Amino acid sequence: MTTQRYPSMGKTHAIKVETSVPTKMRDGVTLYADIIRPEGSGKYPVLLQRTPYDRAGSLVGRSSALMGDMINMATHGYAVVIQDCRGRFESEGDWRPFFSEVDDGYDTVEWCAAQPWSTGKVGMYGGSYLGATQWLAAIAKPPSLVALFPSITSDGYYDNWTYQGGALGWLMALSWGGLIAAQNLEHTLRNKEIPQAMVSKLVQALEQLQKSYSSTPPKDVPGMSREIAPYFHEWLEHPTYDDYWKKISIVDRHNQITVPAYNVGGWFDIFARGTLSNFSGVRAKGATPKARQGRLLMGPWAHTGQLSGLTGDYYFGSAGAAATVDLLGQQMRWFDYWLKGEQNGIDKEPPVKIFIMGENVWRTENEWPLARAQETKFFLHSSGRANTLNGDGMLSRDANGASESPDAFLYDPRNPVPTKGGELCCDLLFFPGGSYDQRAIEARPDVLCYTTPPLAEDTEVTGPMTVTLYAATSAPDTDFTAKLVDVCPAPDHCVHSLVDGIIRARYRNGTGRAAPPLKSGQVEKYVIELGATSNLFKKGHSIRVEISSSNFPRFDRNPNTGEEPWKAAELRTATQMVFHTAEHPSHITLPIIPRK
Ligand code: BEZ
Repeated sequence: MTTQRYPSMGKTHAIKVETSVPTKMRDGVTLYADIIRPEGSGKYPVLLQRTPYDRAGSLVGRSSALMGDMINMATHGYAVVIQDCRGRFESEGDWRPFFSEVDDGYDTVEWCAAQPWSTGKVGMYGGSYLGATQWLAAIAKPPSLVALFPSITSDGYYDNWTYQGGALGWLMALSWGGLIAAQNLEHTLRNKEIPQAMVSKLVQALEQLQKSYSSTPPKDVPGMSREIAPYFHEWLEHPTYDDYWKKISIVDRHNQITVPAYNVGGWFDIFARGTLSNFSGVRAKGATPKARQGRLLMGPWAHTGQLSGLTGDYYFGSAGAAATVDLLGQQMRWFDYWLKGEQNGIDKEPPVKIFIMGENVWRTENEWPLARAQETKFFLHSSGRANTLNGDGMLSRDANGASESPDAFLYDPRNPVPTKGGELCCDLLFFPGGSYDQRAIEARPDVLCYTTPPLAEDTEVTGPMTVTLYAATSAPDTDFTAKLVDVCPAPDHCVHSLVDGIIRARYRNGTGRAAPPLKSGQVEKYVIELGATSNLFKKGHSIRVEISSSNFPRFDRNPNTGEEPWKAAELRTATQMVFHTAEHPSHITLPIIPRK
């Protein structure tokens, strides 16, 4: 353990830094932390961050701006503790993503509370996996945990993290799964005999991620061996929402959460749905009045890159930059209120702040989803040729006629619709998240496009959305995807993606159990959850819905053979039909916000 001293830098407290501070968990395993806290013998509330990303470097360690945040918080009168998760970097033991964090979170919170420099009140903060370590600690209910500040994180680790609509988040599983395996090689090699050839394969897989995504079957993707990435195999081997996932569910335990959380998210973040669910779920059902005082802030951001108003290739104006909402300032006010008892008025402010894209302004609200939203159905129409942006697909509030011709396309998993933006992580080089122009994708014949005429007035859509699709396929199992885009008028004709979703046919009746195989040509109803957005479709713009059967590599490909996709080597083409008649009224339901 080493100690360093820093001058006060003009702030309230001079601080000191202790590194490699050991904390013993209940099973005797030691985890290590760095602590930055005010000098002297005073007692301070504790802000704890638990990270798998190397507290001493890499993603969010000392070298990053977050170190600056830690110093700021310490000079502001907090003892700030950053700990390596079990089995990561300096900490001992074996890491089991998510599962390790419940007991370790509890033990670390209570350890922080018991230190001589601690007031006994502990808050937790951090984003993404560091948000997961907060919620997973919170479900264990450590008595000294007082408040959370989780950002860009989810409400569980099946839906909205590893799977969506029953499809595997393949881009995330391989890019993040590979990254964490590579980061942990030193640890893994300490505990297991692993042949060098296996290590080289992992390095190769990461260097050639583009190629790795396409390898079949997914379970045999070179480099991701069971010895090196056991969790990757667990994710694939649990394609339904079973007990494996339920043990670590947050959403199922919203009614057991005892502490308030300030949730920060981005409309294009991979965990946007989970962020919104954690806010509304705990606010409605939290176990204590305090827990029900949570807050929500949603910006026009992807998982990374919140620094400017540019997300993907769409610019949301300077107001879209995170600096405009002073996230660190919000965090300090939140913890000052809950941990120091300062009456700074944060409890009197509307609990929700959202960025309205298109209008490019921030707005406060009293709830999420917005109570004044008018759920409005827009029906799919065509004369049977809605393929591509130049087809005859239309979207309108008019109900479907009795005999509109269905649309058809071929879904060939060997040539899937490529991912272009959206709620993505973690391949920043080839698949950055955010809003991207979709025209190249909409030129494909396997993409159906349904578009409103240019809007006669500004139309705000704010809230969660679903597409209800009546479709048939020649395959025993397949996928259907949907995307909502904002189409600009001439001369730009740009097409900004907003949200998208998928449904795996075998999970059309729920993700707890696979449904029986489909009968060729039989029309079935599919509900595709699109997540949520807040977008002002300006007068003259159009609302468009795209329908297809793949979004790759964001989601794994359905092989159309009936075999479970993670095991399937053979890929087959399927004929897909989308119906829009009075009997089968395919539609999107949009939360329209009345504007004065
Ligand atoms: C993250 O910590 O940034 C992360 C973790 C899992 C999946 C995606 C992102």
